[in-house]
Amino acid sequence: MEEENIFLFIPNLIGYARIAFAFIAFYFMPTSPVLASSFYLLSGLLDAFDGHAARAFNQGTKFGAMLDMLTDRCATMCLLVNLSLLYPQFTILFQLSMTIDIASHWMHLHSSIMKGSGSHKTIDLSGNPVLRLYYTSRPVLFAMCAGNELFYCMLYLLNFTEGPEVGLGAFGLFRLILWISTPIALLKTLISLLHLVTASCNIAAIDVDERAKKS
Ligand SMILES: *[C@@H]1O[C@H](CO)[C@@H](O)[C@H](O)[C@H]1NC(C)=O
Repeated sequence: MEEENIFLFIPNLIGYARIAFAFIAFYFMPTSPVLASSFYLLSGLLDAFDGHAARAFNQGTKFGAMLDMLTDRCATMCLLVNLSLLYPQFTILFQLSMTIDIASHWMHLHSSIMKGSGSHKTIDLSGNPVLRLYYTSRPVLFAMCAGNELFYCMLYLLNFTEGPEVGLGAFGLFRLILWISTPIALLKTLISLLHLVTASCNIAAIDVDERAKKS
């Protein structure tokens, strides 16, 4: 059989498109808020599609999973850099958010590799019902990720415009979405912190095992 080229798998092609859209978004971010947000959210939305394509074409790969995760982390990080420029008084919070996001994913991914499990999403759920829902229900995972992205995207947009009026002219659509997405973003951060702690414990447990074997 001819050797497959993983780099040309459909989900990975979608992955490259996601990177291109993110670049376009960040290029336009200082000047064209609506255009930039559209490309940013489109890049995020395609994340759901490439997972779907991976299953439909049986083209799920480790490279694809890595590409996806890095695209997510880097895109969010770049947006947070922009937010730090727009809202310098909140820079420390944005730095905290980036740190939690990257540290928790890094720790979680590595602890799951050490335990020999396949994806960074198939962790030991330890019987926690909230986390189980987060990992097994695609709509819940999608809503959480979308809510989180929308939260930061609305923060960005609100520096330029309130958006179309809703709420009897009292506030705009972008502020409404910000309010709705705030609890989701907070919950997602909380879950990330939980991952950071549990993954640290898992890795420490592996350390304990290895040291016991050596002595
Ligand atoms: C947008 O950000 C700039 C830079 O921090 C700031 O001067 C301006 O007041 C902000 N505008 C709004 C509406 O928040």
